[in-house]
Amino acid sequence: MLATAQLVADRLKQSEDPAVRQLAPRLERTIDRAAGLAASTLKYGRADEAPPRLQRVIVAEAAEEAAAEALVGFAMDYRADIETGLACMADPDHLHRVLSNLVRNAAQAMKDHARAEKAVTVRGILVDGRCEIDVIDHGPGVPEKLRARLFEPFVSAAPEAGGAGLGLAIARELTLAMGGNLELARSGAEGATFRVTLPAA
Ligand SMILES: Nc1ncnc2c1ncn2[C@@H]1O[C@H](COP(=O)(O)OP(=O)(O)O)[C@@H](O)[C@H]1O
Ligand SMILES: [Mg+2]
Repeated sequence: MLATAQLVADRLKQSEDPAVRQLAPRLERTIDRAAGLAASTLKYGRADEAPPRLQRVIVAEAAEEAAAEALVGFAMDYRADIETGLACMADPDHLHRVLSNLVRNAAQAMKDHARAEKAVTVRGILVDGRCEIDVIDHGPGVPEKLRARLFEPFVSAAPEAGGAGLGLAIARELTLAMGGNLELARSGAEGATFRVTLPAA
């Protein structure tokens, strides 16, 4: 939503009509305020959400389950490249939501992309007492315009396709609440890699 509005505002700035050009920054500020309000509403809505119940989770099992759910309806393979026995401390339900969101985004990115390999790979390794869980795709990468605000609510490149732009915002909140982190580790013409980091168990 916000990203689309920004694109419109950018166009307005290039308009021949000075009156229209002047509207662009105002539109942008209004949108920013609206997004801010929506973001705090969202936070408030989650305030009474149960805190994470951390337990030992086998990463390969969690990833497999999340991918199985997320890839329903996509003609796409799931590949696991996860260290044997890798386990993290996580709330199993929350980790499921995080990983299925990332896998679904990966599948959506590859769906209409002319690329031979239609597969989502989850790679898991232990680094300095933490689990690094990478969700890797071969799509077109994250649009440059979205990168700076990728994890903010209501940022989506596909609002007309029903993308609410909440997937990554919620996934990051859930990950942070488990003492972990979620970041875009890599994005380019070869695809995108989102990295979930969680304490090892
Ligand atoms: N793996 C990916 N490859 C390319 N773009 C992505 C990927 N994951 C997310 N994005 C971009 O980030 C935007 C926001 O993602 P998300 O928060 O899940 O919202 P939504 O999926 O509802 O649009 C998507 O609309 C898409 O443009
Ligand atoms: Mg999404």
